[in-house]
Amino acid sequence: MFLTKLNLIHFRNYKKLDIKLSPNINIFVGDNAQGKTNILESIYILAVTKSHRLGSEEHLIQFKEELAKIKGTVKKDVISHNLEVDISALNKKVFLNQTEIRKISDYITNLNVILFCPDDLEMIKGSPANRRNVFNVEISQFSKEYIQCYNEYNKLLKTRNEYLKQLQSISKDDMYFEILTSSLVDRAVFIYQARNDFLNYINQNIGDIFYHITMKKGLRVEYQPNIPLNSFDAQEIKKVLTKKLQDNYQREVLQGTTLYGPHRDDFAFFLDNNDLKIFGSQGQSRLAVITFKLSEIALFQEKTKTTPILLLDDIFSEIDRKKKNRLLRYIQNGIQTIITTTDLKDINARIIKDAKIFDVAGGIVTERVKSDE
Ligand SMILES: Nc1ncnc2c1ncn2[C@@H]1O[C@H](COP(=O)(O)OP(=O)(O)O)[C@@H](O)[C@H]1O
Ligand SMILES: [Mg+2]
Repeated sequence: MFLTKLNLIHFRNYKKLDIKLSPNINIFVGDNAQGKTNILESIYILAVTKSHRLGSEEHLIQFKEELAKIKGTVKKDVISHNLEVDISALNKKVFLNQTEIRKISDYITNLNVILFCPDDLEMIKGSPANRRNVFNVEISQFSKEYIQCYNEYNKLLKTRNEYLKQLQSISKDDMYFEILTSSLVDRAVFIYQARNDFLNYINQNIGDIFYHITMKKGLRVEYQPNIPLNSFDAQEIKKVLTKKLQDNYQREVLQGTTLYGPHRDDFAFFLDNNDLKIFGSQGQSRLAVITFKLSEIALFQEKTKTTPILLLDDIFSEIDRKKKNRLLRYIQNGIQTIITTTDLKDINARIIKDAKIFDVAGGIVTERVKSDE
């Protein structure tokens, strides 16, 4: 799948933008605060209808304007589709081939993207909550069942926690508590399994890709659920979690909260059995997260039968010349990629020659004309 055209009107610092993208590598070069990330953000919104950045949607509309429009043409096999997202202070509308689509879930399958942004480094250095969020964002992109189950789990968890607090002063309705707990455990089984499958999939690729780019072996991610599991077999998970909850009932009432379950999950990156959270340099961590994202491509291809578009924001800082070029060579294999950077220093002339380069300055984008053409 390729995004062939992008058109912005009154989006962030773009009054009007009209560009044609290459199906291979596209690089947006410019100083800070010129509008590079805004471009990636617009493509991300065109795909999933929401920004990856915090802040209210009104900020997406250019100052003093009423309506921002993001339009793009997506080519899948031989068919092209026109996508459009209109954002006003009051609402947001999405269109497929000029027809408004009312159900967001019907719209978001048209363009698949994988985004790396500098905040994704939180995947390593941030809190376990950051990492659980990664599970939810990534897995829900190809499993509707997962989001549904996760939402049900959260509702049950909230109800159970409220009941545990009440149990500090009222007597227990055994039947009610039993149903609440077993319903929670049922959802937990599905979530543990989905997360384990996801990380297993990542692990099939992450080591090789990381080696390809860094010449270092042994990168892997490790799932760390907060219950001691011998396997991810449904019966095993059910048994272990139920027992943990039973054994800790008094503590749970005392603390008024559910102490075990996937809401306390974590995972970690290991390089040669060293936890990157503790031992990883900035550059190593950045490459580990980028490699994690690259590992998802194969998963996407299997689950959705299409190759997503890669959006890489500011990926080159703290990465040395060799690794930059190896990374670029890796993604040249038929994956449309849109990269932002402050400079093209260190990048091989060959790669630059094969890529489309766009200069970004103050909300104006100029495609660089190659001197030898
Ligand atoms: N709603 C908006 N209207 C106009 N300009 C905006 C709006 N939102 C952000 N900007 C401008 O966009 C610029 C930042 O763009 P960004 O893409 O994040 O820069 P970078 O090139 O560093 O990635 C800033 O100059 C900011 O003032
Ligand atoms: Mg930026």
